[in-house]
Amino acid sequence: MVRYDFRGKVVLVTGSSRGMGAAILEAFAAAGATCVVNYFEDADGINRRDAEATAQRLRRHGVPVFVFDADVSQYEAVENLMRRVAEEAGGLDILVNNAGILRDRTIKKMTPDDWQSVIRTNLDGVFYCSKLGAEVLRDGGRIVNVASISGVMGFHGQANYAAAKAGVIAMTKVVAKELARRGITVNAVAPGVIKTAMIEALKPEVLAGYEKQIPVGRVGRPDEVAHAICFFACEESSYITGQTLAITGGWY
Ligand code: NAI
Repeated sequence: MVRYDFRGKVVLVTGSSRGMGAAILEAFAAAGATCVVNYFEDADGINRRDAEATAQRLRRHGVPVFVFDADVSQYEAVENLMRRVAEEAGGLDILVNNAGILRDRTIKKMTPDDWQSVIRTNLDGVFYCSKLGAEVLRDGGRIVNVASISGVMGFHGQANYAAAKAGVIAMTKVVAKELARRGITVNAVAPGVIKTAMIEALKPEVLAGYEKQIPVGRVGRPDEVAHAICFFACEESSYITGQTLAITGGWY
């Protein structure tokens, strides 16, 4: 892992109780950032326990860690999240919009609820966090959105997900222009298939099919995505904005 220096910076990663979000925060913690873990409360408390375990791991790097609950698909919850970030974590330098869900089905079987739940979390959530996060972000800050190569290529069974991620890529370009005057850059990563709980739900034959098409011959690791996010977030990337970087092992 390239060693970045994020000492003195506060980073919030949405949906960071586990998976890619937790790996992204791990990279920032290793580089000295104050970390804000965000999770959303579920009925059985699994996300809260995951978030606390993630926070414990991050604290081993000797950095301050905050754990804030918020469902990013709810505007009022995001307002409350950003208020806590401002008041308790002392402001915000880097926002990573990572929270996301899958509800894969062909459009024949996709229900309006499958459609709306994905749009609410994966697209509305990025809008709410960007809008309200921009009020808390310091000038010179960074927003990095976690889109997906599905938003560019359009994978089978992902009409909802691909539409939301394509929307995130478009939103990245617009918000980059709107926040440029404040020195805030806004970029996106578009990962291919990355080994997290999200892809453990895939049927083995579907995963094998993906692997055959990936030129490097394997799925990606969360730390490989985290590295690209650190690149966009570092001070030296101040002239890069509105971009989407594919992290796919060469798959287009
Ligand atoms: P994951 O399912 O392990 O993690 C998603 C996280 O988002 C979880 O912590 C979950 O609790 C949280 N979350 C879900 N709904 C939320 C809400 N309403 N409010 C707050 N948090 C919420 O999946 P993974 O793989 O770590 O995904 C992270 C991001 O990466 C997602 O945006 C996903 O679409 C994207 N992505 C993942 C790829 C993969 O192959 N794993 C490929 C391309 C993009």
